[in-house]
Amino acid sequence: MKLYFFSFLIFIYFFFDYSFRNWLPNFYKFDKDVIHKLVLETLKENQDADAKSIMIDLGKKLKKIYPKYINEVNFNDWVFNNAGGAMGSMFVLHISITEYLIFFGSAIGTEGSTGMHYADDYFIILSGRQKASDPNEMTPRIFKPGELNHLKKGTINHYSLDEGSFAIELAQGWIPLMIPFGILDSFTSTLDFLNLSKTFKIMTKNIIKNLLNGKF
Ligand SMILES: *[C@@H]1O[C@H](CO)[C@@H](O)[C@H](O)[C@H]1NC(C)=O
Repeated sequence: MKLYFFSFLIFIYFFFDYSFRNWLPNFYKFDKDVIHKLVLETLKENQDADAKSIMIDLGKKLKKIYPKYINEVNFNDWVFNNAGGAMGSMFVLHISITEYLIFFGSAIGTEGSTGMHYADDYFIILSGRQKASDPNEMTPRIFKPGELNHLKKGTINHYSLDEGSFAIELAQGWIPLMIPFGILDSFTSTLDFLNLSKTFKIMTKNIIKNLLNGKF
C-alpha cells in the first residue's frame, strides 16, 4: 500500500515536471519580452501619467497584439485579492489553464509572500516600487517602473509594494495549481465572499471562453 502511494507521488511529480518543461510551452500565447517592450513604450509615451491612464493605454496596445485573448480594461471588474498575507487589487486581462495576465497592485501598498508556484512569474512594474528578497538577503532587491522581476517556478520571495504601486503580471505554467494560493486567505481570514465569488466567476468565464477558442 505504502509503495503504491509512493509510486503515485513520483508519478505525479514527473507528470507535472515533464509537462511543465516539454508540453505546456506549446500552449503559451504571450511573450514576456513583447509585453515588457510594450510596457516600456507605454511608460515613455505616458510620462507623469497616473497608474490608471498607463493601464488603459497598455490595455489598448495589448488588445491590438493579442486581440483574441485579452479582456478590455475597465474599472468595474477589479477585485480584492488576499494571498500570502498580502492584500491587493487585480484586474484579469487573461486566464487560461496555462497562462494568466493580470494587473495587480495596491493604492495603499502591501507586503507578504509571493507563494510558491508551478509557474514562471513575470512581474513588470508600471507605477510605484516593488521590493523583494530571498531569505539570505539582508537588503532588498528594488524594482521600479519598467523593470521586470522574474520569480522562477518553485521559488518564493518576501515582497512589498509601495503605496500606489501597480504591475502587469504574466504567469506561465499550471495555473489551476496557483488558485488555492490565490483564494485560501479568503476562507481562513477575510471571509470576503463577495469579491471571491466575483473572482471565481471571472476565472471560470475566462478559462471556458479561452478553451472554446482553442486556448488551453
Ligand atoms: C469587494 O469588496 C469591496 C469592499 O467591500 C466592495 O466595495 C466591492 O463591491 C466588492 N466586490 C464585489 C465584486 O463584490
